[in-house]
Amino acid sequence: MFPSRDALAAAAAERFAAAAEEAIAARGRFVVALSGGTTPRQLYERLAAEPHAAVVDWPRVHVFWTDERAVPPEHPASNYRMARDALLARVPLRPELIHRIHGEADPEVAAAEYERTLRATFDTPTGPPRSVAGARFDLVLLGLGEDGHTASLFPGRASIHERVLWAIADWVPATPAGRVTLTPPVLAAAADLLFLVTGREKAAALRRVLRGPSTPDLLPAQVVARRNDCVRFLVDAESAAELEPKGNSER
Ligand code: 6PG
Repeated sequence: MFPSRDALAAAAAERFAAAAEEAIAARGRFVVALSGGTTPRQLYERLAAEPHAAVVDWPRVHVFWTDERAVPPEHPASNYRMARDALLARVPLRPELIHRIHGEADPEVAAAEYERTLRATFDTPTGPPRSVAGARFDLVLLGLGEDGHTASLFPGRASIHERVLWAIADWVPATPAGRVTLTPPVLAAAADLLFLVTGREKAAALRRVLRGPSTPDLLPAQVVARRNDCVRFLVDAESAAELEPKGNSER
């Protein structure tokens, strides 16, 4: 547990940079899925500043998103726009390695196109995602909604049980409703998943996800959190307010 959002963002930036260095040293590239919403903005801004801006080998970083809203890239609700303004436009990424989900398109079309790009990137033309180095995300960043959703996997939605498609469109009880999201199999195959959770308003959801019974239909974040042994929760004191004390700063 971190004392502040700033301390959490600093720790997350260190983990991002370390994961990038390890992947690039091993395979010549780092494939990351960025989360949307508001929590990760501080992390992205830190990565765009010194020392990380100079340390990360940005031209070898492949950028994806965990999900996107069905809005154009310039829309205030666009997850792409948030990441572009906070990070992507401020570091020397190769434009052809920035794989935004086309929120301006029909979500079904955008999801199918995104899946094709994912399959090509991971050299897996057919079949399920492979938990093999180089054939999966090196790092996935995730947030947690007050209702227990993560990415755009929302309570009660069929997407929670999707086992074949890698990306799907959905109309969710949030604004904007139209979404494209990575599915549980892709998330579960990742080498490293980092939930970033801050704020007192997330404390109840965090307690239920981490300490409550397994109810993935009500708490989709559990689908991810309990299906991969490389999941870490970076939480601040406010969001951890309903958790019993534990020794380490991660959960
Ligand atoms: C999105 C995100 C979503 C987000 C949570 C938390 O598109 O909204 O992918 O899963 O991580 O809703 O959002 P905040 O960080 O804004 O609390």
